[in-house]
Amino acid sequence: MPDPQEMLYPTKKDHVEDRRKDAGHRKLLDEFFDHPTLMTISRLITQGQFESLDYPISTGKEGGVFRASLPGGFRAVKVYRIGNTMFRHLPPSVLEELLKEASAHNRSQLIFAWTRREHTILRKMAGVGIRCPQPYGYLRNVLVMELVGTDGIASAPLQESVVADPARLYQELIVEIRRMVVDARLVHGDLSPYNVLLHDGHPVLIDVAQSISAQHPQSRELLERDVRNFAKYFIKQGVETSTEQMLAEVGASEVWKEEAG
Ligand SMILES: Nc1ncnc2c1ncn2[C@@H]1O[C@H](COP(=O)(O)OP(=O)(O)O)[C@@H](O)[C@H]1O
Ligand SMILES: [Mg+2]
Repeated sequence: MPDPQEMLYPTKKDHVEDRRKDAGHRKLLDEFFDHPTLMTISRLITQGQFESLDYPISTGKEGGVFRASLPGGFRAVKVYRIGNTMFRHLPPSVLEELLKEASAHNRSQLIFAWTRREHTILRKMAGVGIRCPQPYGYLRNVLVMELVGTDGIASAPLQESVVADPARLYQELIVEIRRMVVDARLVHGDLSPYNVLLHDGHPVLIDVAQSISAQHPQSRELLERDVRNFAKYFIKQGVETSTEQMLAEVGASEVWKEEAG
């Protein structure tokens, strides 16, 4: 039972700790919500995309994902940080594509192009029936999409989940990657248990801004890397597979034979 005196009149030490906590919180918010980003959020609210931002679901070096509310339910809002060097970590092929697509003259514009890219790719994926968040809109460095979750609680990445039936999940994931490769003609490029959410026991693909066209000369290589990550993951879970088998199952030979011919 806390001493009521202490609660009402905190000691000096508590004051300092509170302020430190506040400072950490403020620092986080400052990094995401610079003035232009706040204006962008405000415009999205005016557009009716959401009514309020509730709390961060995830904060990373490149940006944060926040839960947003509107009267009918919830959305996920991804805010890309402007002042950051994310493009250094991209495969050169992806950066090349981005520069080709975007008439970007500075880093902000490049990040806006990146945000739009994620929206476009999600729309393409959703269009061929891939399990991914439905994109609802974007403005500058802010992307609004479906919240993958239940009753407003975001579903966790595979990495943080216990999988009841890995063999079934494997089959389901093959279906999703195959749709991406064969139907959408895209290679995710950063596929890992961090970028697949487990929603009601089924996989949902996220974090797609770096995805590239199957026509790109590096795409086959990137697919192999994606699949190798998951082969390792599933072998550890007791599923009998290999990188080669997964490549075959997702349709690599069909697609790259056609792309070559
Ligand atoms: N639409 C979404 N619904 C629920 N959670 C999401 C959604 N998008 C992202 N997340 C959560 O936010 C985390 C970071 O998002 P992600 O798109 O992977 O960005 P990055 O890895 O670049 O920070 C994800 O691992 C996931 O936990
Ligand atoms: Mg991610």
